Amino acid sequence: MGDMDGLEVTECARCPELVESRSRIVNGTGPADADMLFVGEGPGEQEDAEGEPFVGRSGSILDDKLREKGLVRADVRITNCVRCRPPGNRDPTGEELEHCRGYLETEIELVDPDVVVTLGKVPSEHLLGRDVAVTNEAGSVERATLGGSERDVLVCVHPAATLYDRSQEETFDAAIETAATMAGEGGSGGQSQLGDF
Ligand code: URA
Repeated sequence: MGDMDGLEVTECARCPELVESRSRIVNGTGPADADMLFVGEGPGEQEDAEGEPFVGRSGSILDDKLREKGLVRADVRITNCVRCRPPGNRDPTGEELEHCRGYLETEIELVDPDVVVTLGKVPSEHLLGRDVAVTNEAGSVERATLGGSERDVLVCVHPAATLYDRSQEETFDAAIETAATMAGEGGSGGQSQLGDF
């Protein structure tokens, strides 16, 4: 079924269509003790090719925004709801999301971040367990039981949304600003690198 070694899923064949479409399993990236955990939907073409989340166009938008807020990609953890690229980049099905849920729960439990940031509708609805109007709710924080504890979940638009709509850029900017504040950017007790700007 599935094998997990710490934070890494090394073998999994639970979703037949994804086993067919993927080149590899794309695990989360970043420090195992990061203060901030970003959760996207699933690997796209570039992520599937490189084996790392958010390394394509959406990834550079995220990286740029993190830098603007005094954060660096290397200091945050980035993962996805599903670890295998869906065919044609379709949304993962409910069943696929459920198949991968345990891996995400384990990752959240082990990383134990101060804030979980959901990038877009699919991760927001998956982790909050309800319908989410992401554009309206972006920047809001809700408590949810994840990885065995009650945690702060910050809703955020998907980075790619900023490409089509200027107002989404402002929404994205404000949400990442909130995330930086929640993880203690510039404050004490956070990761040392977070206050270096
Ligand atoms: N979009 C996502 O949701 N995840 C990625 O890893 C890349 C793009």
